[in-house]
Amino acid sequence: MSSTTSNAIADPSIQSMGKKRQYASQAAKLAVGTVTTIADGLNVPFLGAATHTLNQIIVLADTVKANREACMQLATQATDLVQALVKATEGKSAVNVDDDLKRDLGDLGRTLESIRDCMVALSSRSRWKRILSSSDDGAKLTEFRNRLTSAVTLFQIRDQISGRISQEAASQELLQNVKDIQAHQLNALPAEISSERSELLYAPPAYPECFYGRDEFVSSAVDLILNNAQAKLAILGPGGIGKTTVASAIFNNPQIQDMFPDYRIFVSCESLSTAESLLETLCKAFNLSVQNGSLYTTLKDFIQSTSTVLVVLDNFETLWDTNNVSNEIESLLKNLCSLKSLSTIVTMRGSIPPIGIHWTKPALPPLSVLSIDAAKLSHYWHIWHNVDLLQKNFISAG
Ligand SMILES: Nc1ncnc2c1ncn2[C@@H]1O[C@H](COP(=O)(O)OP(=O)(O)OP(=O)(O)O)[C@@H](O)[C@H]1O
Ligand SMILES: [Mg+2]
Repeated sequence: MSSTTSNAIADPSIQSMGKKRQYASQAAKLAVGTVTTIADGLNVPFLGAATHTLNQIIVLADTVKANREACMQLATQATDLVQALVKATEGKSAVNVDDDLKRDLGDLGRTLESIRDCMVALSSRSRWKRILSSSDDGAKLTEFRNRLTSAVTLFQIRDQISGRISQEAASQELLQNVKDIQAHQLNALPAEISSERSELLYAPPAYPECFYGRDEFVSSAVDLILNNAQAKLAILGPGGIGKTTVASAIFNNPQIQDMFPDYRIFVSCESLSTAESLLETLCKAFNLSVQNGSLYTTLKDFIQSTSTVLVVLDNFETLWDTNNVSNEIESLLKNLCSLKSLSTIVTMRGSIPPIGIHWTKPALPPLSVLSIDAAKLSHYWHIWHNVDLLQKNFISAG
């Protein structure tokens, strides 16, 4: 059993993705746009086609619903790798590529095409099929990540790179780039990654970088938690209204951090489909090892042995909709909510919270659209950062 706080399992590189998906995706598109321009002028077979495929992957990663975070990370990983390869050959009129390297580049190209095809399939799935296939899809995405990691390792071998690319400067730059990528991947990826149990599911989010117009809502929620030993809050509203963002703001509020210094976890339920997968994710998030007892007993014993625990179950509607038939998830939520010392926040699409729970009163109102002023501020924030990115890309391309 761990005594670490949930923040100890947070990975900054993962945190910086997720909640800024759209922004990250837009940034990646800009970056790939630059890369494509450079690649078009190169005498390197594959790179033009690879950046084209990569562009499709980035667009698709933004449209998939299940395993979305894993798809975004895969797209980012592929972008890093292709960019490193392109940058290494930037400005060279002709690059001598030997047969072995051509074969490796070809393999990488085919991997990118498989990733694109997989994402096409993921983005066109119906909601039910998506849920049922979530764990198979997760395994596939993990395999792709491993394949990209292997490609990085391959390209990293100094002797091979020096021998294969004629320009020494280019090979040094490529070497440095792939080293950086690998260091990033080693930090970002836990030793064992298994689809639904990925760290992505329970990495606590950072305080939202762009956040306007919800101060009153957040302070009401914080007050309810501070004044109720076993607060149970439901953050409701239509898709995309800002439920996850608000929950992140509450989770990172300094008073909440003080109240839950050790055990405070934020779990995305988006890719979970069963009560068991939720239990597994919670145990993993608390770093509990399940020896002989059941998952629930282990989790319950742990929560009961602590004084204050906060659990945020984000996008809970995925689990709730799936389990209309069996009542497992309903019972699990009820049992968890009855545990002394556990405070719970559920974010969920719609206007009706899960039944059977004594939600803390007064209930939070469903989130409504931001005021015009707040929406404008949020809009300008995105423009400001995109302009900044464009400038950066312009400079690096020039
Ligand atoms: N108060 C806010 N200020 C600025 N931007 C916001 C705010 N709330 C949400 N956003 C932005 O709106 C987008 C959608 O927000 P979020 O993911 O929190 O919505 P959601 O209700 O959780 O969506 P879903 O129902 O799909 O889970 C994000 O890009 C987020 O950064
Ligand atoms: Mg959400």
